[in-house]
Amino acid sequence: MTAAAMVAEFDDVAGWTADAVEELGVRYAIPAACRGSASPAALAWLAEACELSAGTRLLDVGAGAGGPAAWAAERFGVRPVLLEPMQAAGRAAARLFGLPVIAADGARIPLRTGSVDAAWCLGVLCTVKDKAALLGEIHRVLTPGASLGLLVVVAGSPQSLPGPEGNHFPTQDELAGLLDRTGFTLLEQTGRPDAAPLSWSRRVEQVNAVIAARHQSARAYTLAARQGERLSRLLATGQVSMQLIHAVSRPAPNTSFDSGDGTSAGPIFEYVEPELRS
Ligand SMILES: C[S@@+](CC[C@H](N)C(=O)[O-])C[C@H]1O[C@@H](n2cnc3c(N)ncnc32)[C@H](O)[C@@H]1O
Repeated sequence: MTAAAMVAEFDDVAGWTADAVEELGVRYAIPAACRGSASPAALAWLAEACELSAGTRLLDVGAGAGGPAAWAAERFGVRPVLLEPMQAAGRAAARLFGLPVIAADGARIPLRTGSVDAAWCLGVLCTVKDKAALLGEIHRVLTPGASLGLLVVVAGSPQSLPGPEGNHFPTQDELAGLLDRTGFTLLEQTGRPDAAPLSWSRRVEQVNAVIAARHQSARAYTLAARQGERLSRLLATGQVSMQLIHAVSRPAPNTSFDSGDGTSAGPIFEYVEPELRS
């Protein structure tokens, strides 16, 4: 995931978002840091489907600026761990919410096998070429029978319009096959539930306005805006749709769960956790 447009969309904008929230106030943080991926209704559907509760260790893979995980911590009392490969996005999540963020690729999660109670992966699959590697690795770190909540942009009719650069949207059949092959049972699925209420979307708009005022002339701003417009056009014309999915992890028949500290890779970088709330 190195296309300049994706770095602009996921990294530059995340950093700018944290700066804008610092100016506007902490109540802007969660809506602004869920940008483009989820409404409170979508998050509630996923949280209820995954039966999140106080103390659940929730791994958010591709957590971005951390809004969904922070929402789950605030509303359901989960203990989130965020995983995000983009440095500015990870730092934004740590700055905004003081949550632990691991800087890593989802295909190589530096956590122990079977160490996580539940996982979310929201708006990430379509940005990843090797979707099976990502899902397989999430399966490895989940306890058997654990829930996976997904938000996936699914391709419907053949795309006649250009999509956001670097995105590869799976069809419904491809997605179902991928989940099955990587050890998940798809339990339920719904199209995106109700849009965000004005109380939420107005805050997002205000954050957007601050970002535009500060960065409109930056190349990264133009690239990120084009990514958003392309996705919006595909959604508006029905060529892709946003789907919420609840899957559960089946025990892997040929994998013996290790007892020690075997991990797939890499160091864990936890960002310093300065409190944003002033
Ligand atoms: C559309 S954003 C969604 C962010 C967040 N999940 C949310 O809902 O607000 C997609 C995120 O996936 C991350 N991502 C892309 N490739 C990834 C990979 N291989 N492993 C983990 N995360 C990845 C991006 O850096 C970006 O933060």
